[in-house]
Amino acid sequence: MDFLKKPFSLGSLVLPSNIFCAPLAGCSDLPFRKMTTKYKPGLVFCEMVKMDALIRNDPHTFRLLDYEAGMHPIGGQLCGSKPHLAAKCARIIEELGFDVVDLNCGCPVDKVTKDGSGSGMLKTPEKIGEIIANMVAAVKIPVTVKIRAGWDALSINAPEIVEIAEKAGATAICIHGRTRSQGYRGPANWDFIRQAAQASKKIRIIANGDVFDAISAERIFKATGCDAILLARGTMGQPWLIEDIERHFLGLAPIVRSGIDYRNFLIEHLGYISRYQTERRALLDVRRVGCWYLKLGRGTKALREAINKASSLQEVYQHIEAFPWEDTQFAPLSSPTEVSCEEASC
Ligand SMILES: Cc1cc2nc3c(=O)[nH]c(=O)nc-3n(C[C@H](O)[C@H](O)[C@H](O)COP(=O)(O)O)c2cc1C
Repeated sequence: MDFLKKPFSLGSLVLPSNIFCAPLAGCSDLPFRKMTTKYKPGLVFCEMVKMDALIRNDPHTFRLLDYEAGMHPIGGQLCGSKPHLAAKCARIIEELGFDVVDLNCGCPVDKVTKDGSGSGMLKTPEKIGEIIANMVAAVKIPVTVKIRAGWDALSINAPEIVEIAEKAGATAICIHGRTRSQGYRGPANWDFIRQAAQASKKIRIIANGDVFDAISAERIFKATGCDAILLARGTMGQPWLIEDIERHFLGLAPIVRSGIDYRNFLIEHLGYISRYQTERRALLDVRRVGCWYLKLGRGTKALREAINKASSLQEVYQHIEAFPWEDTQFAPLSSPTEVSCEEASC
């Protein structure tokens, strides 16, 4: 079956493909996106930004939206539950040059849901429609929305939200096949995505949850009947996942990456971090990012610990240089249980 679409159209926008990269709060910053966009995803998202923070011109929030020309097509994601802010915020995203603006209805964190934002929106589907309609009226770029299957197992309402979003004018809806109460525990339920996809008349369905390799990418397309897929944790430490999936769909042989390849990717990513952040912040980021690349390498524990204890970037590079990469085997990521380096936040 022809799952890979190259190009893929989203409203008036023509995207390079239907394999997208997710918003990841605290992770999908500019250095991370420099790594993934090398592989030309159909669309890449910045992490979510709060509507209130955009309106008060918070500089930290605007920095989360930093991008480079080579990152197009790129989406900005809004998180908020106030319909009267939606139009202005969508316009800010459009004026910053983004190609798509998305509404976050999936973040499970208490401090986000307590005012009804993020997955809190799943409890007020009519408000999702109102906010989307305000966004659609305010901008020319496609408006999309990202939801979870429902608040909990007893209130699965993704099919209803698909209809609401479609009526409000959204071009696509991304469905993460977990509920809010699940957090990140247990597998994503792709049946929920399939049921929601059946409610679509024309809105594009983007399936999300537990795609960690090319095989799971094929399985989610088959299981859900979606138009596109959104990769999230699978790209952490494997920015090449997009390439692996495309090669699989094109019938090309998989690429086997050596220890030296992993070292080179890690050094490249650290280089982007060190150029983008202050040394103090870079050191913190390097610990997190280093863990992603190293967690699937045999015998990398001592190196991870050394990176965590390093007091300068120079020391980090010295540890990396001293490591026997050519003798180290890396297994590709294949299951969500392996994604445990840090607590997921959204
Ligand atoms: C660290 C982290 C941060 C996330 N931040 C966001 C976010 O800013 N906006 C959003 O819509 N989803 C966010 N998500 C959810 C992911 O985009 C995705 O829906 C989820 O991880 C399920 O996909 P996966 O099983 O392939 O990882 C985040 C997930 C993680 C693990």
